[in-house]
Amino acid sequence: MDISTAIRTNGSVRGFTADPVADATVAAVLDDARFAPSGGNRQPWRVAVVKDQAIRRTMADLMLPVWREYVGANATGVTAFAFGKSIDATPIDAPNALVENIHDIPLVLAIAADLHHIALMDGNLDRPPVTAGASIYPFCWNLLLSARAHGLGGVMTTFLSRAEPAVAPALGLPAGHALAAVIFLGVPVHQPTKLSRKPVESFTTIDRFDGPAFAG
Ligand SMILES: Cc1cc2nc3c(=O)[nH]c(=O)nc-3n(C[C@H](O)[C@H](O)[C@H](O)COP(=O)(O)O)c2cc1C
Repeated sequence: MDISTAIRTNGSVRGFTADPVADATVAAVLDDARFAPSGGNRQPWRVAVVKDQAIRRTMADLMLPVWREYVGANATGVTAFAFGKSIDATPIDAPNALVENIHDIPLVLAIAADLHHIALMDGNLDRPPVTAGASIYPFCWNLLLSARAHGLGGVMTTFLSRAEPAVAPALGLPAGHALAAVIFLGVPVHQPTKLSRKPVESFTTIDRFDGPAFAG
């Protein structure tokens, strides 16, 4: 598959067959993912392949309240947890098969970033910093692209990061590390290939962000 097709068709997979994922495949996927860029090439990623069912259960128990809070806030029409928005919505008890069935997910990866090795370029500004993520999420996305190449599918999630202090002891998250994502992987029941994305002209302008639309 060419790179453009891979990028354009790597949709989220949340339903997996019972096929296990061999450690050798996990190793191969991680071996691809490590070629991601990072600030200063400091490669701040750490990965926990979470096999222990008790740890998975702890993760799920901490994810579910965040999920319900998220769905409740979204139901009011605001983007949940968005910058500048306060949350006063009632959590909604929505189902989440991914989290509820965490024991059956073939592969659960916790991805952490060592903050001692990331330059917080925008850490001094009066808004939440985002540039740190640029040293860890390309790794996560490489991982998902490589997974596709190995016949796997999956989804990156961040809801456990909201409960990072609570889950840190179970995961042995070192001090000064951020829980960047939890990635679920397995053999897809169905591989989505038609992704819904906004067109280029809806987000691209000339010279300035308030400039005329870039039509290409
Ligand atoms: C930063 C980030 C956080 C996400 N968090 C979650 C999540 O907590 N739960 C989930 O099911 N999907 C999560 N996703 C997957 C998105 O829902 C998905 O990428 C988006 O809806 C596009 O869907 P598609 O890939 O099927 O086209 C996340 C994706 C990203 C990039």
